[in-house]
Amino acid sequence: MLAGGQPGSQARLGAGQIDPGNTDLGESKLPGPAAQFAEQLRAVDRSMVLLTHPPILETRRLDWPDEAACAAFARRLAALPSLRPDTFIALEGLLGAGKTTFVRHLLRALGVPGRIKSPTFAVLEPYEVDGLVVSHFDFYRFEDAREWADAGFRDVFAAPGLKLVEWPENAASVLPLADWQMELAALDGDRRRVSVNALTDHGQRLLAGMA
Ligand SMILES: Nc1ncnc2c1ncn2[C@@H]1O[C@H](COP(=O)(O)OP(=O)(O)O)[C@@H](O)[C@H]1O
Ligand SMILES: [Mg+2]
Repeated sequence: MLAGGQPGSQARLGAGQIDPGNTDLGESKLPGPAAQFAEQLRAVDRSMVLLTHPPILETRRLDWPDEAACAAFARRLAALPSLRPDTFIALEGLLGAGKTTFVRHLLRALGVPGRIKSPTFAVLEPYEVDGLVVSHFDFYRFEDAREWADAGFRDVFAAPGLKLVEWPENAASVLPLADWQMELAALDGDRRRVSVNALTDHGQRLLAGMA
């Protein structure tokens, strides 16, 4: 809404739109070109902030001293009834931060048996457990947004289910707004610092359920 037209329409308000023949262009009536330009820059800036950083409704900071703490958090999340039938969790963080590990613990806690593969090459590993469709994406190698429709990923996001997405940054132009944006960072040893950002009302309710 804001991102769509604003920068473009602002940018068209160039100096050409000010009538140079009008001698009555006092500062009190119209801002000068410099002030106008500064306002344009601010408008573009506001739009860019909205484009790249959706508003965070609430943040929870976690400190996982070891992988057992990661697994415990995953188990508590899996136990929340409102995780079903439709939740989108975006997982950000460098290689080795623990994105796949967290997903593995979550899937295990939900009842997925057997080996849980990382979808780094396949992009998507689908599961179904107790009637819940779970889609684990890894967009690390995702480059071509055309794949989004061709591979059926758009349909996955249009339907209910639990969507767990690693490297959402690489598909940012096509992904809908996540309920949770989790930012994971490896500290020394097995310690991980995690921020859980709720970006939707549903995400905020999930956070409240984790209290
Ligand atoms: N507290 C922790 N939380 C998650 N993973 C941990 C933790 N401590 C150690 N690890 C290890 O860190 C590695 C994380 O790798 P992985 O989950 O594949 O990262 P990513 O998917 O972010 O690239 C795994 O080997 C995991 O066992
Ligand atoms: Mg991974």
